Amino acid sequence: MTVGLLEDFHDFEPVQDDFLAAVLSGLTAPQKSLPSKFFYDERGSKLFDQICDLEEYYPTRIELDLLQNHSEEIARYVGSNSHLIEFGSGSSVKIRTLLKAMTDPLSYVPMDISREHLLEAATQLASSFPELPVIAICADYTSGFSFPDLGQGKRTGFFPGSTIGNFLPGDAEKFLAGAKDILQGGGMLIGVDLIKNEETLFAAYNDSKGITAEFNLNLLNRCNSELGANFNTQYFKHSAFYNSPESRIEMHLISLRDQIVSIAGHSIGFSDGESIHTENSCKYSVSGFQSLASRAGFNPTKVWVDPENLFSIHYLEA
Ligand code: TRP
Repeated sequence: MTVGLLEDFHDFEPVQDDFLAAVLSGLTAPQKSLPSKFFYDERGSKLFDQICDLEEYYPTRIELDLLQNHSEEIARYVGSNSHLIEFGSGSSVKIRTLLKAMTDPLSYVPMDISREHLLEAATQLASSFPELPVIAICADYTSGFSFPDLGQGKRTGFFPGSTIGNFLPGDAEKFLAGAKDILQGGGMLIGVDLIKNEETLFAAYNDSKGITAEFNLNLLNRCNSELGANFNTQYFKHSAFYNSPESRIEMHLISLRDQIVSIAGHSIGFSDGESIHTENSCKYSVSGFQSLASRAGFNPTKVWVDPENLFSIHYLEA
């Protein structure tokens, strides 16, 4: 693989060791579940990029608009000499807007769990910004790993896409508290999806082309190819709905019949209609999120919201 254009590449080899254990423990609990970080294999990462381009999936579009419309002000908050550390960088699309508005970023540090996707995106970015040192980190940012020394300079975290919503509020707080340690007194720029009417939320996770369904079902394909499981994806269907009391979209895979699936020598029974909970996407009010950030030790100093109140970007001081 070509890492030639990158300043550095740190590989903490995430996932491999715990995929089977996580699948077995998730599928033997009374409410079956699969951890959402496993969505992002090669194919999952590509499907997710397609979700981001969907008309119904407003978060990506609105967040990019916000970054573009307020890029100069956002760049002022970030400051001129800062290391930009992205949590779950995916295709590194959104950071480009920010980088263009910044005067002298010290480095860009994309972190992602999907190795090939990370290296491809980081290499492309490095060739678009030849002056910028790009330090790629392949890691699961929800697990502890020793963050590399970046030398002097402010550190700013970038966590777009409302990925923070994929943690339950208590875990989001823990994650932010951990991120704060990495940021060493710098700041955090974070995208947070807002509570809104149920129709808009529902459509964002039930697109008419069925890409989100394919993305969700891809978890089962991944169990088949990497763990030798024998899921028949025709016998499961995607389900996403808004759980209003909890202010979150829940994603599930529903078994369409009584069936037994074998995974690495273990037999797992599913009854007709039984669900595997695969993801939460928690939605916040601006003030609700600011309180959470404060509890994690941040000082929420600025927020940008679109005119329709669909999405927010917060600047938090660490
Ligand atoms: N962070 C995204 C969100 O919660 C992830 C996401 C979007 C997602 N669509 C999805 C995850 C569909 C699983 C299935 O909005």
